[in-house]
Amino acid sequence: MERKLIAAGNWKMNMDYDQGRDLAKAIVSGLQPSDALVILGTPYIHLKNISGIIKDISNIKLAAQNCHQEESGAYTGEISAAMLKSCGVEYVILGHSERREYFGESDELIAQKIDIVLKHGLQPIYCCGEKLEVREAGKHEELVGEQVKTALFHLTREQMKQVVVAYEPVWAIGTGKTATPQQAQEMHRFIRGLLRKKFGQEVAGGTSILYGGSVKPDNAKELFSQPDVDGGLVGGASLKAGDFLAIASSF
Ligand code: 13P
Repeated sequence: MERKLIAAGNWKMNMDYDQGRDLAKAIVSGLQPSDALVILGTPYIHLKNISGIIKDISNIKLAAQNCHQEESGAYTGEISAAMLKSCGVEYVILGHSERREYFGESDELIAQKIDIVLKHGLQPIYCCGEKLEVREAGKHEELVGEQVKTALFHLTREQMKQVVVAYEPVWAIGTGKTATPQQAQEMHRFIRGLLRKKFGQEVAGGTSILYGGSVKPDNAKELFSQPDVDGGLVGGASLKAGDFLAIASSF
């Protein structure tokens, strides 16, 4: 199983309908066939339209930023995995620290979301990462280890092969303060080690582990050159086509 190199954008709650369409078109027209696999994580309103814009380009895929854990029903305002699938979505970002912090999502809930997403043939991009005080206390591996175990260790090996992991230290998100390439590598290596113990070498070696937190064109190359860093989950810099394209060719 070959590990994919991925540049994933997380647009968060940005871009109205026209802006999102224009950004997707600019990325499509600038992307080179030699670039990494690009994933656009857009707000729900864009998904169907952008799935049409990217349909002929093999190295661009579409991600949602969340999904409800139930199949369907009386959950006003929520979106199901089946709905996402019907719009051409292939990936779903789950467990982002902003959802943990502002919407109270626990790893138990995230595990349920991972299950429903996998059931519908979608691929979770599972986010984990520690806050600053946890790192300063030297407990970052312990905490991320717990997150990974609670959210992913109930999966079968075949299911785990569908999961992308994103390590996003909370203190590096939107702050301009990036983890050093060494800090990223250490944590990615640790996560891959956990996956190896639980799922074996084939699965662990084939899992893409992305780094997220202030990835920019000027730091992407050094981060992505680390042996266990397989790409990035990019927030702010994914909103500018030029910056995001530069990141996608930083492998
Ligand atoms: P920034 O790249 O803006 O720091 O955001 C990272 C992130 O949260 C991606 O999911």
